[in-house]
Amino acid sequence: MDRIRVIGGSRLEGTIPISGAKNATLPLMIASLLTQDTLTLKNVPQLADVITLGRILGNHGVDLAIAGKRPGDVQGQGQTFHLTARDIVDTVAPYEMVSRMRASFWVLGPLVARMGEAKVSLPGGCAIGTRPVDMHLEAIRALGADIDLEDGYVIASAPKGLKGARISFSKVSVGATHNALMAAALAKGETVIENAAREPEVGDVAECLVKMGAKIEGIGSSVLTVEGADVLSGAEHTVLPDRIETGTYAMAVAATGGDVMLDNARADLLEEPLDVLRAAGVEITETNRGIRVARNGAGLKPVKVETEPFPGFPTDLQAQLMALMSVADGTSTIRETIFENRFMHVQELARLGADIALDGDVARVSGVKGLRGAQVMATDLRASVSLVIAGLAAEGETVINRVYHLDRGFERIEEKLGRCGARIERLSA
Ligand code: UD1
Repeated sequence: MDRIRVIGGSRLEGTIPISGAKNATLPLMIASLLTQDTLTLKNVPQLADVITLGRILGNHGVDLAIAGKRPGDVQGQGQTFHLTARDIVDTVAPYEMVSRMRASFWVLGPLVARMGEAKVSLPGGCAIGTRPVDMHLEAIRALGADIDLEDGYVIASAPKGLKGARISFSKVSVGATHNALMAAALAKGETVIENAAREPEVGDVAECLVKMGAKIEGIGSSVLTVEGADVLSGAEHTVLPDRIETGTYAMAVAATGGDVMLDNARADLLEEPLDVLRAAGVEITETNRGIRVARNGAGLKPVKVETEPFPGFPTDLQAQLMALMSVADGTSTIRETIFENRFMHVQELARLGADIALDGDVARVSGVKGLRGAQVMATDLRASVSLVIAGLAAEGETVINRVYHLDRGFERIEEKLGRCGARIERLSA
């Protein structure tokens, strides 16, 4: 199993191209189930999760053609995917597939909407909390499907098709919003989704659905009004830049000191994290190329942060912020409000010398003078990248085991950081 070795202490200088967003790419790929025509996605990142979902969709009958990079293509531009679900050959998403990637549960809405039936495995356990799917089921049921749970499977049926409805979510869920939105795009009549997730990736999917022929109002707000279409058509859509990757590299620069241009990054997708970095004393400049992040000599000030749904501070940057605050001058408070158990990186950061005290959903991070390299274990996607950040800031060698988590969500991380002067390499097993 691959490992990543980091020798800490180098400043980061140069340019990092930001890839297309993983969390938009996955639901956009799933949206291909809604039409017989070809959906073309540009700026698709090269990630293990994307490949896995391609296989899962292939099982349902989606034909995926990938146009790779050609000479002359801009670095970081991403791949182009042509997804065609001419015929859905199987409406079953088996446990072996869904358990590999939770987001594949989101095929439920599109499959019932197009085929009138779907049998999708419950995603099962997950390393970051219980992560139920009750709101997904509530939404699909509201749209008129009968739902049964049998042997770990959700069996949904709507032989006469789905019908528009009012869906009012009790809390904000990105996945349930995607599922409801995609299903509503092929439902008869109007659907109103209240308390919808406002994450930019939801907006990206909504904009793609509009290109495919759905009428959607309120994109970017917490109330989405969808006028479903009888048939959706193909479209061409460019995936928006990854705000989590952007924030992660910004924190890596902040942790090591340095000066890096994050090419293609969009500041409007992560205003809150950028404000937190500014409050910590990091220089952030928005330019027409992207975002420039610099910390030259100045110490890091501690911060007080709570994770929240968008536009608040994202839970997907919580672990990275914790690594950064481990070397700040003073004590930071970080509260996780979205997921239970999303503090598994704490004990690994402690192996590098971080001083973090947990009290329920609050972590108090007392900055230390310096971290020291160690052997650590990646536990999930965002946790593993926090260990890379800590390793870059630490003195000596850090080896991160189980990096397959990293490959699920970060494109060519060692190459992107290595080009900016980080001493980082992949050790293949
Ligand atoms: C998505 C993101 C993930 C991010 C998360 C929160 C993708 C592929 N994944 O995950 O990176 O960390 O949003 O921003 O986009 N919940 C319920 N019932 C449900 C569904 C969710 O109680 O039916 C709860 C969850 O347990 C959690 C909260 O709602 O506490 C938010 O989860 P949700 O927004 O659904 O996360 P995902 O869509 O799985």
